[in-house]
Amino acid sequence: ETSLKLAVIAGDGIGPEVTDEALKVLEVAVDRLGPDGVKVEPTRYDLGAERYFATGEVLPDSVLAEIREHDAILLGAVGGKPGDPRLPAGILERGLLLKLRFELDHYVNLRPSRIFPGVVSPLRDPGEVDFVVVREGTEGPYTGNGGSIRVGTPHEVATEVSLNTAYGVERVVRDAFARASRRPRKKLTLVHKTNVLVHAGAVWSRLVAEVAPEFPDVTVDYLHVDAATIFLTTDPARFDVIVTDNLFGDILTDLAAAITGGIGLAASGNINPDRTAPSMFEPVHGSAPDIAGQGIADPTAAILSVSLLLDHLGHAEAASAVEAAVLADRADLAASGAGVQRSTSAVGDAIAARVAG
Ligand code: NAD
Ligand code: IPM
Ligand code: MN
Repeated sequence: ETSLKLAVIAGDGIGPEVTDEALKVLEVAVDRLGPDGVKVEPTRYDLGAERYFATGEVLPDSVLAEIREHDAILLGAVGGKPGDPRLPAGILERGLLLKLRFELDHYVNLRPSRIFPGVVSPLRDPGEVDFVVVREGTEGPYTGNGGSIRVGTPHEVATEVSLNTAYGVERVVRDAFARASRRPRKKLTLVHKTNVLVHAGAVWSRLVAEVAPEFPDVTVDYLHVDAATIFLTTDPARFDVIVTDNLFGDILTDLAAAITGGIGLAASGNINPDRTAPSMFEPVHGSAPDIAGQGIADPTAAILSVSLLLDHLGHAEAASAVEAAVLADRADLAASGAGVQRSTSAVGDAIAARVAG
């Protein structure tokens, strides 16, 4: 039996609620692997708003060093209540979540979107939707490359400069091509705004063109990000793999979640493909302060993130078992007449029971 050293950062709001269910399903999934399989050894880190209020700490270096020693990270969500004066904007988002993504070199932010059988899309006729967004995870406007002067005056000037390096763009583009070439439709769509953001756009366009010959079986096309939102709504089935920058990818993946049945189903992996540090798996959604503490958050996104985690660690069979259990759970829910509001733990229990077989 090998051990799976898992750093667990449940975080804030609904984070702990959905993470408990994800862990429940993970335990059952690895049990399926049998006596020669895997033993999960979770270490919980109490990072998030409460720790910050109590100690002023967001992510101490010593904790980051410990987290690095794990095989993977499971994260719930971070972020406080809107307007809480104790929590300045971005403290946790930048200081914890983005710091982990940057320090652990999670340059592939993988966000799959599928309409599961039985799941109702708000679109009338979405067709067969099954695409994956490869969102760049370490650059773009997220790096903190900016500043403000004359703050609070009518002459205030603020910049948030998007960082795009050939190194950073090439590696994520190559990963996206490789993923596209492993999928049946083998199609890659670059989404950017090359008609306006001409400097960054040129880097992305050039590197897509340069890497393309390595993957002659992959068809390449391009959409401006504004038009991409049109087609995600009118014809989402056209997409296979989308590669895009950090901010565009953030926005497109909430839209992708909405059209495929809701943010409660959208999973993600912050992947370090070179395996120089642990990858991190988390739902696409945030801490949802509007529903936190009520036990009604949908844990499915967190549970599907466990499937991505297992797959990344080479446990393809356990990963498929989790995904199949979610599919069956949704199909059953549809058949039994949706509209029944299940508690967070009821959803986790139902999926865990299916994984157990
Ligand atoms: P959000 O994703 O938390 O919530 C948006 C809406 O979706 C809310 O109405 C919420 O109730 C609903 N929702 C989200 N997850 C759900 C679930 N599992 N089941 C049912 N409904 C769900 O986005 P927001 O309100 O913009 O952000 C809230 C906080 O979370 C902010 O502090 C933000 O910075 C942070 N955030 C963190 C992460 C992360 O940790 N990865 C991601 C996004 C936002
Ligand atoms: C997400 C979130 C984060 C992002 C925030 C909270 C930093 O919205 O994971 O999608 O913008 O990447
Ligand atoms: Mn987001």
